[in-house]
Formats: sequence, C-alpha cells, structure tokens
Amino acid sequence: MSARPQDREHTQPGLSNRAPLDPLRARADFPLLSRQVHGKPLIYFDNANTAQKPAVVIEAVDRYYREFNANVSRAVHALGEEATAAYEATRDKLALFINAKSRDEVVLVSGTTQAINLVAHSYALPRLQAGDEILVTTMEHHANIVPWQLVAERRGAKVVAAPITRSGELIVEEFIARLTPRVKFAGVTHVSNVLGTINPVRELAKACRARGIPLLVDGSQAAPHLPIDVQALGCDFYALTGHKLFGPTGTGALWARRELLEAMPPFFGGGEMIKMVSFDKTTFADPPHKFEAGTPNIAGFVGLGAAIDYVNDLGLDRIGAAERDLLAYATDALKSVPGLRLFGEVPHKAAVLSFLIDGVHAHDLATLLDHEGVAVRSGHHCAHPLMQFYGVPATARASLAFYNTRAEVDAFVAAIEKVRKLLA
Ligand code: ALA
Repeated sequence: MSARPQDREHTQPGLSNRAPLDPLRARADFPLLSRQVHGKPLIYFDNANTAQKPAVVIEAVDRYYREFNANVSRAVHALGEEATAAYEATRDKLALFINAKSRDEVVLVSGTTQAINLVAHSYALPRLQAGDEILVTTMEHHANIVPWQLVAERRGAKVVAAPITRSGELIVEEFIARLTPRVKFAGVTHVSNVLGTINPVRELAKACRARGIPLLVDGSQAAPHLPIDVQALGCDFYALTGHKLFGPTGTGALWARRELLEAMPPFFGGGEMIKMVSFDKTTFADPPHKFEAGTPNIAGFVGLGAAIDYVNDLGLDRIGAAERDLLAYATDALKSVPGLRLFGEVPHKAAVLSFLIDGVHAHDLATLLDHEGVAVRSGHHCAHPLMQFYGVPATARASLAFYNTRAEVDAFVAAIEKVRKLLA
C-alpha cells in the first residue's frame, strides 16, 4: 500500500515539467478510440458525460478479477488481503490527488450523486429547520440540486440559487449577498458541465467560512482537468466521480474535513460500517468506514487507482494545457459556422462547448453528427434550471479531452456544416 498522505510531503500530484502532451500518443493508450461508428472513425466529444478508459485501467480491472478477486476488509486469507490492499491504495491515491490532510477524510462512494446525497441526508437534514435555505447556483446539474430539495422539503426549508450572467459566469457578489443567516448550507459546482465555467471556489469558500456556512463543491467536471487541492480551496466537502476521471463507472469519492465526518451519522447501514452490533444498540466504525456499508465496487476502485496513476503520469498541467489549446481552436472553428450560438463564453473555462444552430433541434443535430462518427451529447444535460435560464429546451454539447485532436475538431466542424446545410 502506498504511503499515507499525512506521512509524506504533498507534491502536487499530476504536475510535471515535461514537454507538452502529444494527443496522438496519448490516444493510443485508449483502445476504444480506434473504433469506427457508422463506418466513420469515432470522434468522441462526450467526455463530460463519461470519459474513455486507458488500457491500464481496463487491465487493472481484468487483473483484479483474474488474480485476486475477494471481498475487502473481511478475510484474513491472501486474496482478501491483496484485494483490501489494492482497494485501500486507491483511497491513498485519491487523498494525495486532492491533497486531503488524511486518507480517513476520503469516503469511497459510487460517484458524485451518492456523495451529495450522503451529505444532504447525514449532514444537512439533521441541521435544517423550517424557513432555512440551501444556496446553490443557476448552473448546477441535478445532482447538486435535487438531493438538497429532498431534504429541504422534509424540513420546510428551500433551495435558492445565485444568478449567473448570460455569458455563463457566476455573479459572485450575488452569491455572497445571498449568504444570509437563513442559509445553512451551500453547494457549488467547481466546473459547469454545460458551460465549462470554472467557478472561483476559494473566494466562495472564504465567504461561506466567514459566515459559518459549510460549502460543498461538486468536482465531477473539475477532477479530470484541474489540479484539486481541497485544503487550499478551503471548502468543507468535495465530491468527485471516477468515470469522468478515466476510471470505471460506479466509483467516486467524498472528501470532508474529519470533524465533519465524525459529526455525521451513517447514511446506509449494514456490514463493514459497524464496530459492534446487538439488538439493543449498534456502534459504528470510525470515518470513512462508517459511510461504506456493504461490499463496495472493488474492481472499480482498483481501476480508479490505475486511472489516477495514469493521470498523474501524464501530468494535470500538461492535460490542462493541451485541453486549453484545443478549446481555443474549437471555439474559433465553431464561431465560423453561420447561425451557431455558443453557451458559456467566459475566459476561464474547461473544454466544454454547448451550442445550438438556428433552426436545428439539438437532438437532430446530435443524431446526424453521430452518423458522421461524432459523439456529442444533446439535451438538457441534467441541468433543467440552466436551460430555463437560457430559454432553450436543449443544447448540443461537445466536451473535449486531452486525447482529442485538432483534426477531429476540423472533421466535427465539417460534419456540422454538412448537417446545417441539410437541416437549416
Ligand atoms: N453526466 C452528465 C453530463 O453529461 C452530468 O454532464
């Protein structure tokens, strides 16, 4: 098992001083990217939905099932120990990846949705009273809205949203102005899945902290693209999803400061989260195990460990630089398409391009692009309130990763032109 973060100096994992990342070399690590769709080379621009997996991740999952499949933390036999070591090693890797003070602050969950539901039910619900508010932003996706509504309704509290500008920027002073004494909790996405906007989390966390309001940051779209340092961000909870981070589906992490996890009751009950059970009373394991009832997605977390190693090896600085370069190129290219409207034009953004073309429905666009081999997402992107804000039912969205290329962007824009001439 790798060293615990508290035992070693933090060295910004994923940062490097090497030559720029070569997307053509990187994409060779991803077996799926060489397939064809409808007889055309696949252009995978749906990375914000889920990212593709490098061979090292697929092989790690395969090796787990072939060589050391066993349940974790329950068996003293060799396989059980190997499985537990590999599973717990991913906790260590995650702790280093986000610069947690301790591995015990990292709860392994099925993804961001579970993480936020856990915090909503275990932390917020017991503390909410009628008339209280939970503050989020207009650009949240449903996983950072609905769990709060579920608990708010039970207490007669409500979820309120801080506004954004038409260009897709959070109006920070409006967020801060809404941090009234009624607000008992705040949640904000680090990176918008629709607009790509990178929110000023440090500033928001500082304002929340000054008022004693805990802040959860939804990092599902940030973790694959930016170095995350939860201590520097100053937030209270941070949630991330493994499958967007080139790892398997059904994996993710909730980070919270230890004292918060200690103060929270368990969300799920069952095996592995207890110290002692009798019919009169059950005592619970210490965090993080208190929140990890039942057999987890062991194979998935073994794969996520390999994904984190892979990302660290490439270097998040190189990943970020490659994506920024491609984003600038793709933005210019899309702007040259007549009748194309972009959503989310802020200077500081991740490589997400939501758009519409005059007279063309987003679903028709995505369907016809698929026939050209281009995978983009269309629809509301699990962000109904944001669609309502822009007054559109749906957008098409191209979300890029470091393994995408300028040649793919050129082919994508040529495919859009073809579709536009057909439909507009
Ligand atoms: N997976 C969702 C997306 O595509 C939230 O952005």
